[in-house]
Amino acid sequence: MTKMEEKKLKIDACFSPFLYPVYKDDESIVVIIDVLRATSAICTAFENGAEKIIPVASLEEAKAYKQKGFLVGAERNGLPVDGFDFGNSPFHYMGENIKGKTIVLTTTNGTQAIASAKDAYKIVIGSFLNIDALCDFLLNEKRSILLLCSGWKNKFNLEDAVFAGAVTDEISNRSDKYDFGDACIALKYLSQMARKNTNRFLTHSSHKKRLAKLNLKEDIRFCLTPNQTKVIPVYKDGALVKMSPLSGSPQRGEG
Ligand code: MLT
Repeated sequence: MTKMEEKKLKIDACFSPFLYPVYKDDESIVVIIDVLRATSAICTAFENGAEKIIPVASLEEAKAYKQKGFLVGAERNGLPVDGFDFGNSPFHYMGENIKGKTIVLTTTNGTQAIASAKDAYKIVIGSFLNIDALCDFLLNEKRSILLLCSGWKNKFNLEDAVFAGAVTDEISNRSDKYDFGDACIALKYLSQMARKNTNRFLTHSSHKKRLAKLNLKEDIRFCLTPNQTKVIPVYKDGALVKMSPLSGSPQRGEG
């Protein structure tokens, strides 16, 4: 095959778990995105020593794990759910109490997105906290990519869209091997508008306003701060684990 005929990889973005069946394919790595706050909390937990995170879609499943003695985080509508150990703030996942532990997590949207894509070729977790490591990994894998935004209750949301656009932008700057779907082209331009001050760009976004009302402005600031970790959580046998260094991304400039 000549270079001209070389088959391109695909990259696209899906605005919500509801649309996932339309976008899914058997080839793509699926990146789950819920920057405010589930995927940011997951990255934080691994950065602070958690061993495993079992994402579950329902509170019933979470309760069953709690009864078996697991540490369980549960959030609905931005608030921690009574009777569990943590909510969904990244600041809940920084203590000594999580080191070496398996944590069960259920959230309004993020864990629903993971559940919807559970049969994908590979699922990884993306957030501003690990964006550079994530892009290095994706480029290194040389596979098609689907950026799955968790949105809000199956609707589009701005912060996940901006993040998906930022990943698309980085990938398009560093590789000519991809064919870009219309959704991720649109998000790339959106992310360029947001780049200078993402927090300000999101001022009128519904979930930022929701979290701000709950006095969670520090969570927002933290979740929008890029490159706090190189960890890439990957879904394996029903749980998220830290990607092993062997299959992980090379640092920039290597390889
Ligand atoms: C979710 O998964 O729905 C979000 O992370 C909500 C939140 O900010 O707690």
